Amino acid sequence: MSPVSTASTTPAPPISRRAFLKTSAKGALAAGCVFSLGDAMSLHVTHKTLHLTGLPRSLSGFKVAFASDFHHGPLVDLPTIREAVDRINAQSPDVILLGGDYITLGIEYYEGVFEELSRLAAPRGVYSVPGNHEYGNGIVHYRKYLSATPIADLTNKGFAVDSGLYIAGLDDEWGGSPDAVAAVADAPSGVPRVVFTHNPALADLLPAGFAGLIIAGHTHGWQVYVPGVTRFAMPIDSMRKYRAGYYRTAAGLMYVSRGVGLYHIPLRLWASAEVTMFTLKSA
Ligand SMILES: [Fe+2]
Repeated sequence: MSPVSTASTTPAPPISRRAFLKTSAKGALAAGCVFSLGDAMSLHVTHKTLHLTGLPRSLSGFKVAFASDFHHGPLVDLPTIREAVDRINAQSPDVILLGGDYITLGIEYYEGVFEELSRLAAPRGVYSVPGNHEYGNGIVHYRKYLSATPIADLTNKGFAVDSGLYIAGLDDEWGGSPDAVAAVADAPSGVPRVVFTHNPALADLLPAGFAGLIIAGHTHGWQVYVPGVTRFAMPIDSMRKYRAGYYRTAAGLMYVSRGVGLYHIPLRLWASAEVTMFTLKSA
């Protein structure tokens, strides 16, 4: 039986898809395109329920929020970050994991994005790993601004939740030095692991059976996604391999989140902005 039992997505703000679909066939096609474009520019909360082998019943229902790729800057303003924070907090997650790329270019944007992200609240804490843009802008600046927030850096380290779940972060595959051994050095044996990192390509470099759930971002769902076309615009193989959603890898089941912000062009198409809520259940 698949460990992935349910999934749903909550878009905002509401747009009347039904009204569009009542038009003529030609009109419906055009309306559908408009809806998809408008819908893609809205932030969605994607809900996933995952049955995790070895998770004790006492932790069944544990909620993990994941968000990444904020890219605060000229294309992504602070109200967009604020909305993501508000919508994550509204889900009452037990723990919040942030997958990097807080800015695109310009370290002056760190102050605002981290000021907003500092409002994230979860009883088990808020944790971060850097993305390739943190390295591109000088990793020292990410570390400096992050250290002034309540958000803890979890690069190549982890922690146990009630001795029944282990949560670990891994460094960025492009710019950093991911260390899988160090990340789980303190993990109790037999305890299921949730591991998060920026770039999903890292999953291909991890040991078999490394985690019950791997969470990544980086791809933006290809941001402007035209089925059968966008794939060929991806510059490297790993970008073509992983786009969005669940993937079964040798290292474990991986979910690739489409991210919050925008990169390069102010457009998303059939790849809506996303924060992801996982509800973990005992298998
Ligand atoms: Fe990104």
